[in-house]
Amino acid sequence: MSKEHAIAVLAGDGIGPEVVRQGLRILERVAAIDGFRVRATSYPLGAEHYLKTKEIFPDAAFREVKDQDAILLGAIGDPRIEVGLLEFGIIAKLRFELDLFVNLRPVKLYAEHLCPLKNKTPEDVDFLVVRENTEDAYAGMRGFFKKGTPDEVATQEIIFTRKGVERVIRYAFDLARRRGRTKKLTLVDKANAVRAMDLWTRTFEEVGREYPDITRDHAYIDAACMWCVKNPEWFDTVVTSNMFGDILTDLAAMIQGGLGIAASGNIHPGRVSLFEPIHGSAPKYAGQNVASPLATVMAVAMMLEYLGETRAAARIEETVAGLLRSKRIPSLGSDSGLSTTQIGDLVLESLERAKVPA
Ligand code: IPM
Ligand code: MN
Repeated sequence: MSKEHAIAVLAGDGIGPEVVRQGLRILERVAAIDGFRVRATSYPLGAEHYLKTKEIFPDAAFREVKDQDAILLGAIGDPRIEVGLLEFGIIAKLRFELDLFVNLRPVKLYAEHLCPLKNKTPEDVDFLVVRENTEDAYAGMRGFFKKGTPDEVATQEIIFTRKGVERVIRYAFDLARRRGRTKKLTLVDKANAVRAMDLWTRTFEEVGREYPDITRDHAYIDAACMWCVKNPEWFDTVVTSNMFGDILTDLAAMIQGGLGIAASGNIHPGRVSLFEPIHGSAPKYAGQNVASPLATVMAVAMMLEYLGETRAAARIEETVAGLLRSKRIPSLGSDSGLSTTQIGDLVLESLERAKVPA
C-alpha cells in the first residue's frame, strides 16, 4: 500500500481559495505520478465564516486540524474585519498552539529576468531564512492604559526566552550543515539597540561552538536589509527573530521575483506543520483569477519535502523553475498575462516531464 498523508486545508480569505485550488490540483497530480495518497480535508474558516457565525477557530476544528500530518494554508485577513482578529485567531493560534517554532523561508531566484537587481543571477540569490515563530512582539503581551485619552500609553513586550532562542538557532545550524552550501550561518538581530537581544548573541556563540564546521556570521537587521539588495550572494542560511524575519523576508521575496513565488513552512520538527504562501490575502485581487498560484505551489512542494516525498517536491520545484526559465510563465505578478488557472494548467501539464532523481 502506498503511503497516505492527511492534509488539513485552510484556504482562508481573499486570493487564498483561488491559489489553494491550484495547489491542490498539483498535489493530487504529483501524488498520482509519484505514488502516494493524499487525504485532504477542507476547513472553510476565515472572514466569511466569521461574518456568518462569529466563530474564528472552533475548538473541534482545531483538534481535527492538529491531528493531521500537515496543514496547507492560503491566506487570512479581510478588510471588513477588525485588523489582526483573524490573523491572530487563526495563523498565530496555529503557530503558537502547535508550537511551530521555525518559520522557514527559502529565498531562491529561479530565472535571472525575474530579479529586480542588476547583474544578479540565480547563483547569487539562494538563501534560507529561519525566522523564530513563537516569541518576540508576536507573543501578544500588550496593553493600553488610558485608552483614547491624550495620556494614552500603549505597550507590547518583545519577549525572548533562552529555550525559544536556543531551539531555533540550533535548527538553523543543523540546516546550514545539511544544506552544505557555503556552511555559513548569519545571525540577524539589533543587539546594538535592543539589548535584550544579547541573549541571541550569547546563545549563537554557545550553540555555534558545537558546530565548528559552520562559519558564524552576523549582521544587524538594518544592514541585513542593505546586504539583501547589495550582495544577496553573501547569505547562505540566516537566523533571526520573529518580527525582523517577517520584514526581511518580504524584502527578500522581491529579489527572488516577488510575493508571487515566496513560500514558507511553519515547522515543529516531527510534528504537524503548516505550509503557506507568504503573500497574504491581497483583497484587491480576490476573485479575479489573476493572482499567481506559484507561491502556494511552492508551499505544497515544501510540505511534500517535509512529509518525506522528496521526489514529488523536486518534481514541483523543477517544473516551476523550468516554466520560469523558459518564460512560459513570464512573470510572477498579477500582470503576467496568465490567469491563476492558466498558470495552474501549465504546471500541471509539465509535471510528468520534469527531470527528477529516480
Ligand atoms: C506573515 C504575515 C503574518 C506575520 C501576519 C498575517 C500576522 O505577515 O506570515 O509573514 O506577520 O507573521
Ligand atoms: Mn509577513
